[in-house]
Amino acid sequence: MNLDILLGLQWGDEGKGKVVDLITPSYDVVARFQGGANAGHSLEFNGIKHVLHLIPSGIFHPDKINIIGNGVVLDPVIFKEEIENLRKMGVEPTRNLSIASKAHLILPTHRLLDAVLESAKGNAKIGSTLKGIGPAYTDKTGRNGLRVGDLLSPDFEERLAGVVALHKEMIAFYQPDYVEKSDEMMMSWKDSLSILKEFPIIACEYEIDRYLKEGKRVLAEGAQGTLLDLDFGSYPFVTSSNTIAAGAFTGLGVAPARTGRVFGIAKAYCTRVGSGPFPTELFDETGELLRRKGAEFGATTGRPRRCGWLDLVALKYAVMLNGVTDIVLTKADVLSGFDTIKVCTGYRIAGEITDKMPFYDRKEIEPVYQDFEGWKEEISLLKNYDELPASFKEYIHFIEKETGVTISIVSVGPDRTASIYR
Ligand code: IMP
Repeated sequence: MNLDILLGLQWGDEGKGKVVDLITPSYDVVARFQGGANAGHSLEFNGIKHVLHLIPSGIFHPDKINIIGNGVVLDPVIFKEEIENLRKMGVEPTRNLSIASKAHLILPTHRLLDAVLESAKGNAKIGSTLKGIGPAYTDKTGRNGLRVGDLLSPDFEERLAGVVALHKEMIAFYQPDYVEKSDEMMMSWKDSLSILKEFPIIACEYEIDRYLKEGKRVLAEGAQGTLLDLDFGSYPFVTSSNTIAAGAFTGLGVAPARTGRVFGIAKAYCTRVGSGPFPTELFDETGELLRRKGAEFGATTGRPRRCGWLDLVALKYAVMLNGVTDIVLTKADVLSGFDTIKVCTGYRIAGEITDKMPFYDRKEIEPVYQDFEGWKEEISLLKNYDELPASFKEYIHFIEKETGVTISIVSVGPDRTASIYR
């Protein structure tokens, strides 16, 4: 069997959580491959909304195996909160969740470092979620990190003390009063380690290899989105991991030749949280309307999201980078009611029009739009593709023609059931 991959094609918040939950019945295993608790994957069923940060979205299906892969950076405090919340809802994650021994740990000092380094950037700040993601990956590549498997090692405490001492020196340089804070935070961090040890700590590369050889269907679940990729996103306004399909191979230890389908999730319009270029951003009442209708506020931080029209330059770039085989178009219901819907088909940069992503994103980019007639009909209760308004179908066909990829699912509401299959 091959590894299928599901990931975001924009700046995150495309609605990946709902789609993983939706397609999980066709899989045996769901594995998160990168990112950490900066993610907030929302799922809704039976009228209840659930937000997951670290745990794969397959957790609500008791018969599915869920894996936190080696590419993830794991904060035990947030992990514990998430497990406790699941238990309150009657979900017992020890029955179907395991953690890669090679996943790196986020320490409280990583979070404090995130805060001081971000504030030191002043106006150039990234708009980080401040979950310690950047500093944890920095320690990983700098070869100072601690991994989940290290928890079982007899010299863990000693190595932890060494790393924390280094962090404290850096924190003291920027914000001396945070050093004491780090000691308090460390107590609850250590408390949460015991819950982590309740779970199987595995070599996920061997486990997934075995599952694939046994014919099990494995889905790799991405976090954030393609335009936040460390290498190909709008650097430096990115996250610190590879969010694109290539990240699934390093993040789970699977060979690229085993790739199956790649599901790219794209919202019917665009949103972004945090700083950085966003060519189709709307600063007027249309942007406000998208935010209000789409309830565009961060699942992790509650921050209002920046909103704008669909950007096909960015979408085609994302389709190319990821080798997308299927697009899932989400939040299409939010577009009902607009007289005109715009789609960006090119960027005008210094008088020249291009449909390629420029290297230096901070250049003045003027989006070139194609207008589409809107539709007034409410579509959130529709079940069949044929029932969709003609102008919406035209919008869909245009995206398919431009990207060369079929839109195989259209999501018209947050609930599992609000999904239209082609
Ligand atoms: P960090 O990864 O928390 O440091 O954040 C880096 C950038 O990525 C910031 O602009 C964040 O707002 C953005 N970001 C990180 N995680 C997510 C996510 O799950 N959804 C949307 N944006 C995210």
